Amino acid sequence: MSEFHRSSNAKHGDPLPPDVALLRNHLATFGQEHVLQFWQQLDPLKQQALVRQVEQLDLKLFGDLYRNACTESPEASDGPDWESLARRAEPPNAVRLANWHDGATTSLGMTPTDARQRGIEALRAGKVGVLLVAGGQGTRLGFELPKSLYPIGPISQATLLQIHVEKVRAASRRYGVSVPLYLMTSPATHEATVRFLQQHDRLGLAESQLFVFCQGAMPAVDSQTGRLLLSDVGEIFMSPDGHGGTVAALAASGATEHMRELGIEQLFYLQVDNPLAPIGDPELIGAHLLTGSEMTSLAIAKSGPYDRLGNFVMIDGSLQVIEYSDFPADVAERVDDSGSLIFWAGSVAIHVFQVEFLRRAQALADALPFHVAHKKVPYVDAGGKHVTPAEANALKFERFIFDLLPQAQCPLVVEYAEQDSFAPLKNAPGAEKDTAEYVQRMLLAQHGRWLKAAGARVDEGVDVEISPLFALDAQGVAERIQPGERFERSVYLGAADE
Ligand code: UD1
Repeated sequence: MSEFHRSSNAKHGDPLPPDVALLRNHLATFGQEHVLQFWQQLDPLKQQALVRQVEQLDLKLFGDLYRNACTESPEASDGPDWESLARRAEPPNAVRLANWHDGATTSLGMTPTDARQRGIEALRAGKVGVLLVAGGQGTRLGFELPKSLYPIGPISQATLLQIHVEKVRAASRRYGVSVPLYLMTSPATHEATVRFLQQHDRLGLAESQLFVFCQGAMPAVDSQTGRLLLSDVGEIFMSPDGHGGTVAALAASGATEHMRELGIEQLFYLQVDNPLAPIGDPELIGAHLLTGSEMTSLAIAKSGPYDRLGNFVMIDGSLQVIEYSDFPADVAERVDDSGSLIFWAGSVAIHVFQVEFLRRAQALADALPFHVAHKKVPYVDAGGKHVTPAEANALKFERFIFDLLPQAQCPLVVEYAEQDSFAPLKNAPGAEKDTAEYVQRMLLAQHGRWLKAAGARVDEGVDVEISPLFALDAQGVAERIQPGERFERSVYLGAADE
């Protein structure tokens, strides 16, 4: 029985009626009694659903978060003061691309070949899984469905999800194992994603290879009053709790247990918006393993101080990410004697996690700080009218997975070339970067480089898109394309015979 239901008066077998007075009192303690203002209009099912929503919320937490967010003085707030942290930050210790080749000595005491061999060993032994976070919607792109279902393939129109899944299948084939895919959705994307996977035979993944789970959600509060916003007369507005919610969702969904059963020891983590992510890259996995790192992150060199990327920094000797929105411009602009950005290392949200670390982190998950974002959130006003605000009206609170970095033993950052690791779909057409057109150009450019390296001749103006199932990378292309092979017409090279 729930805490807001009457124990008497119910006929045997009937759901217990909610105790409205108790519920109202509870809400009033936290200044949230407006949540019930349309109670009389709700049918019993909607009333039950609203009670369930209230039960699941930690109202004290939202009060505290709101007060902290409104507190001008950082000392009086218990959230991190990113600005002052950024001011005493130093650049991260990282493996730079320029020093990461066989023959060069790195501080790690290994070469890329060593790392690659170690990574291949772990992949062949079936110890690596993939964690893909796909809780985002396509709203910013003017796309109604989950972002994962955006048809990004320049010729194939393959969805983002299909490209990632094909990489997982291609890696499975290459290493002779079944690499499991842990796919995190959010309440906003779950149904549509699962339906799509059902309609498309899990995009070719075996049933045991795919584990779909849903992240948690958080309400938003009115930025003027701290009151919870309603999305409908009987419904509290909820949105994803940030990918920091992954840690708790992995445990709650049974995914961690699934990994234990399969003997998965390392997880390759990526965001669904980046089809250039080198899923299962053995070099990154190997460097992570050989250094005994619990969390290894892929960085790219920022093209300018204001790139919308998290910044890897060292603070008091500990590696951390400070999000672009929390990073002061004057710190971002700092350059060294040669004119290069001091804070060069941008996060592309690709990490390798030791599963054991994530298990330990489950106990720490509540310790991850909340980040506050000012957002436009449509809501129902006191008169029951739906309002779409023109300006940011709400505070949203999210946890970020990269805040685990300071808790990790021997964390590592490895720089990769942007052209081989990062082309995210973030913006609607017309923006300078990170539009669908930009992502498609980056994909075709990568495939063009692979073909050229294999000795193929691609005529001027011809585009060749390569499915991961045709070839996973340059090595795969070299194995399938004869030197001198000519491409006179644009073409999609699809799945090879399996
Ligand atoms: C994010 C990172 C930033 C990084 C950049 C690289 C955060 C807060 N910042 O910025 O450090 O440099 O990506 O592209 O993540 N997602 C979920 N659930 C959530 C939130 C996000 O699954 O609750 C997934 C979405 O599918 C989305 C992706 O994470 O595709 C990125 O989230 P977004 O909010 O777009 O972050 P960015 O501002 O792009």
